[in-house]
Amino acid sequence: MSRKGILLAGGAGTRLDPLTRIVCKQLLPIYDKPMIYYPLSVLMLGGIREILIISTPKDLPMIRTLFGDGSQLGLKIDYVEQARPEGIAQAFRLGADFLAGEGATLMLGDNIFHGRLDFFRTALAREQGATIFACPVRDPERYGVVEFDGEGRAVSIEEKPTVPRSNYAVPGLYVYDGQITEIARDLQPSPRGELEITDVNREYLKRGELFVEPLGRGVAWLDTGTPESLMEAANYIATLEHRQGVKVACLEEVALHMEFIDGAGFDRIVAALPKNSYRAYLEELPR
Ligand code: TTP
Repeated sequence: MSRKGILLAGGAGTRLDPLTRIVCKQLLPIYDKPMIYYPLSVLMLGGIREILIISTPKDLPMIRTLFGDGSQLGLKIDYVEQARPEGIAQAFRLGADFLAGEGATLMLGDNIFHGRLDFFRTALAREQGATIFACPVRDPERYGVVEFDGEGRAVSIEEKPTVPRSNYAVPGLYVYDGQITEIARDLQPSPRGELEITDVNREYLKRGELFVEPLGRGVAWLDTGTPESLMEAANYIATLEHRQGVKVACLEEVALHMEFIDGAGFDRIVAALPKNSYRAYLEELPR
């Protein structure tokens, strides 16, 4: 499967207003890092180094300031504006040049995973079709909901159903093969005027090529879209980091671990950081 990734970090963030009036949701803090660090670390841990970041014309320059071309982390990061939030699946139209007909992983910039990422690596190893993930939740009607059989093939997928057919929500991480460009190109906007990712998945389902990997209990999937869930996510990360003394989504550490950078490259980034506890953590890491 292609090793390209798209990180979608636009949207309106209306549920978090006034927090999001000046700064976009994906740059808000989750304890000690900007939110976008968390999804970016997931792509990196999947071995993905070629990444397209899509955001609003207002927010994209700030994200670019944060990561630049990504080379300090051993990445190659490109940027594209989404003029209006016209749906998650619009990412593949905006990213058509970047994809150049290849498949890609799409990750939403406000999704946080923590735990073993085997489910993602399994999906990346699949040569054909699309893989989505399934996470049991108490309130499936708020999400895309998937029903699947014992062999991990999707049976049905619905966007925010009033009567959900399962309690498995579909998180914001999707792995697609090279059919994605053509499928996204032919998509029609939904009644709410958006290019829906659920419609993309439905097309793969129709082709008999929509696979589902359930997340086990050892994986946490956190939501950050409301003030309560934002606070809960920050508390989760803070508790874990204090208790265990390891950081979640520390990009410099991930880049070193994945061997995207060598010890000398790592030392260069650390030397440029201000003297604080984040730097002290990196200085203590074995290399
Ligand atoms: P949502 O949570 O659906 O929307 P939002 O972030 O705009 O928030 P709100 O509902 O409070 O207004 O979006 C999920 C993710 O996808 C989020 O990271 C924003 C991103 N997104 C885009 O970048 N472009 C889009 O067109 C849409 C619909 C979402």
